[in-house]
Amino acid sequence: MPLENDLSITENSMSKPTLEKKEQNSAVLGIYSSGVLLSCLKIVAMVVVSALLSYFIFNSFGTVHAVLATVIISLLMLIPMFIYYERKVTKQGQKIVSLQNHMIRTIADVIEERDASTGGHITRTADLVEMLLQGMAKLPKYSFLTEANIEKIKSAAPLHDVGKIKIPDAVLNKPGKLTVVEYEIMKKHSEYGADLIMRSIKNVEDKKYFSIAYNIALFHHERYDGKGYPTGISGEQIPLEARVMALADVYDALVSPRVYKEPFPKSKAIEILREGRGTQFDPELTDIFINCVTNRVDM
Ligand SMILES: [Fe+2]
Repeated sequence: MPLENDLSITENSMSKPTLEKKEQNSAVLGIYSSGVLLSCLKIVAMVVVSALLSYFIFNSFGTVHAVLATVIISLLMLIPMFIYYERKVTKQGQKIVSLQNHMIRTIADVIEERDASTGGHITRTADLVEMLLQGMAKLPKYSFLTEANIEKIKSAAPLHDVGKIKIPDAVLNKPGKLTVVEYEIMKKHSEYGADLIMRSIKNVEDKKYFSIAYNIALFHHERYDGKGYPTGISGEQIPLEARVMALADVYDALVSPRVYKEPFPKSKAIEILREGRGTQFDPELTDIFINCVTNRVDM
């Protein structure tokens, strides 16, 4: 079963339950709790200063002015405190995301180094995913693809083949065509990858990111006509992020050299994608992909 996230909910315009969000705030809560003592001291200092000023104003101007002054002074003193914590939380959040992306990238690089035939595949497919998502985002139908959502999918894309870590070298780096048995072993990488990511979900903050990574890893070899693997789901049952990944993955494999083939020219690769429109690939996404990649000179 695909893991649900905001993308599938928006795409299908259905009120499906979202993943638990509470965990996403735990880092924020941690930051606040670590600053509790400091906050208490600041509040005590504020109360003392307010009281002293109020006492002075009460003696000089009377009760009403003293009350008003106390309220205004307290509010003015709270503003810098809120700004300080807002900035601190934002900074910590950025650090967590940066660390997470760095770790993911390192894992993906290790896998790519094991797979001798796919140098640069991870970087190129992430760029192709971004290109396609940017193209989709121009259409009202895909307006939910904000910069933040695009960045999330792009940064999850490098994990699409993470399951290859469990494929034996003799199969992964075989310099020739795989036998039927070897191909069955190789096909297992999508389930292995999803399993690895699923276990990680229990330990990370950003559930949406990992649900996207899980869907990409498990379903990037599904076909629009239902003849793909590992589950054989079809059409829009396949999560959007996996349909996007499928196009980027296949296109890059076509234009790149492999031990068993020379790189195809861009025109030939586009022709093959067009042939798979509506059978292997989402027809609408295929059109957008071809339109985008045709206008790019670097891809
Ligand atoms: Fe794959």
